[in-house]
Amino acid sequence: MKSGLIDRYRDLLPVTDATPSVSLGEGSTPLVRSQSIGDSLGCKDLYFKLEGCNPTGSFKDRGMVMAIAKALEAGKKRIICASTGNTSAAAAAYGARYGLETLVLVPAGEIALGKLAQAMAYGARILAVNGSFDDALNAVRSIVEVMDIELVNSVNPYRIEGQKTGAFEIIDELGAAPDMLCIPVGNAGNITAYWKGFNEYQAMGRAETTPKMMGFQAAGAAPIVRGEPVLKPETIATAIRIGNPASWEKAEAARDESEGMIDMVDDNEIVDAYLRLAREEGIFCEPASSASVAGLIKLPELGVDLTGKTVVCILTGNGLKDPGTAEKRALVELEYVEPDIDSVMNLLNSGK
Ligand code: F0G
Repeated sequence: MKSGLIDRYRDLLPVTDATPSVSLGEGSTPLVRSQSIGDSLGCKDLYFKLEGCNPTGSFKDRGMVMAIAKALEAGKKRIICASTGNTSAAAAAYGARYGLETLVLVPAGEIALGKLAQAMAYGARILAVNGSFDDALNAVRSIVEVMDIELVNSVNPYRIEGQKTGAFEIIDELGAAPDMLCIPVGNAGNITAYWKGFNEYQAMGRAETTPKMMGFQAAGAAPIVRGEPVLKPETIATAIRIGNPASWEKAEAARDESEGMIDMVDDNEIVDAYLRLAREEGIFCEPASSASVAGLIKLPELGVDLTGKTVVCILTGNGLKDPGTAEKRALVELEYVEPDIDSVMNLLNSGK
């Protein structure tokens, strides 16, 4: 049985017989066809790739499995990352499973509860830094210069190698590349990875075309769109609250080479898309993930015709990661009732 993406895509990844077989069953995530949003936009087909179905609930597992396999191959005993939450959860999980001491640096008070809970449960050492994700990443980059510890942020090239398999899966399943890929952009590793994956498949003759890469940042954290770093990034989508992405130039290259775009969506648009996904499609993703759909919804306004197009939106993380946002923004009041049939029937019949 093939359990994870290293086994599945072995020939297309930088692994050898010396690379340990690492897996938590990541990859092979569902590609679910839209039943409502796609039609409302005139798309031929719209699909959501549910990366929240990975073992730690986000796409980060694809990159982490490769980074960990290569760290083990190199004899490393410790790993480190800066994170807005998902990378730290993935690092902590694989670190725990493969006996690596895991150190994560997160912006204090700014990561979603589910992600913090994961890192704690997996037993990582968590340093909450007094600063932003960008400050934490700068610190980590300096630390790895002086300590024997493996950096597992997406500046580690093996992370990108693992994450490119998301593009392979889309083509394997659709039989062709979509016309467009919509994807949230934070530190810009994932858009870089997908672009690499699509190009590799095209070069091997497994797809005739590559999609236009449509990246979306949060308006309060949109350095690529604004053309300069954002010193105090702010957005409800904490996963992409990043002011100076490490893979900035690679994201621009993906945009330009694919004739795509990188634009931004504000928090209201992000929350609207988040609730539409949940209520019209039955898909609960985290706010950063819904930035891809918020961006898609905005494309006609930006002059992009979606008629007849096949589009894939990457839903990067599970909604359960960030229960606080659902509680605050879904605006559903609990209706308290006594646990007997008369009380329940009275309430239901009261017309409220
Ligand atoms: N969506 C989610 C749910 C994320 O956690 C991230 C990044 C992104 C999108 C953006 O991806 O950085 O490759 O452009 N999260 C990182 C982390 C920064 O630390 O977990 P990107």
